[in-house]
Amino acid sequence: MQKLNHPQIILALDVNTLKEASALVNKLYPRIKIFKVGSHLFTAYGPQIIKLIRAKGGEVFLDLKYFDIPNTVAAAVGEAVRLKVKMLTLHISGGQEMLMAAVSAAKAQSNALKISRPLLIGVTVLTSQKAKSGQVLALAGQGIASGLDGIVCSAQEGEILRNKIKADFVMVTPGIRPDSFGKDDQKRTATVSQAVKSGSDFLVIGRPILKAGDPLTQAKEFLKELSVAQN
Ligand code: C5P
Repeated sequence: MQKLNHPQIILALDVNTLKEASALVNKLYPRIKIFKVGSHLFTAYGPQIIKLIRAKGGEVFLDLKYFDIPNTVAAAVGEAVRLKVKMLTLHISGGQEMLMAAVSAAKAQSNALKISRPLLIGVTVLTSQKAKSGQVLALAGQGIASGLDGIVCSAQEGEILRNKIKADFVMVTPGIRPDSFGKDDQKRTATVSQAVKSGSDFLVIGRPILKAGDPLTQAKEFLKELSVAQN
């Protein structure tokens, strides 16, 4: 398993058009190196958006939260490998068989193409929902036991997960908000430094950067907070 030394910020490219997405990547790369493409942008533009980000030097976190029968998810994961995404998400609630099929498809396809395998990241409970105690932990444990590389969770759950799940795993935390910023629809939020302290490897940030008057200045603020928090 790939273990990361320094936590990184991922920009959630939750915008409407290819033009806006392209302008943001131009503005923020190489300070921000990974860009998250979700169902909105991918439904509108498909692989074109992934190729665009990669052509500019950026890496892609494909956040389509796969949840389907094992055969379908395995086939989709194989295609994502072909698109050379750095990481992708699946719903752990899809079950062990689905997760294991995804893991073997990712391995088989990356071996066949002789490229590195994307990190497979499990979604437990969306941060816009209230989680029942134990639910996130049970799902996270199941995901890692099925061979996933990491888990999406709120920074608030991070510390508990690090303590309770023995295996080393990649922690991805959305719901990052500066104290001064509202929560939007996120319920379990944390600041950049809280997320780093909770053991996050990748901090996913969308609206706090996207809605800033100057996204680059805001991104630099977050990066500064990130580097202070690591020391
Ligand atoms: O704008 P904001 O910073 O809230 O964006 C968070 C991003 O992380 C969104 O793209 C959302 O889809 C994603 N996400 C999340 N909670 C999860 C998984 C992904 O908020 N559990």
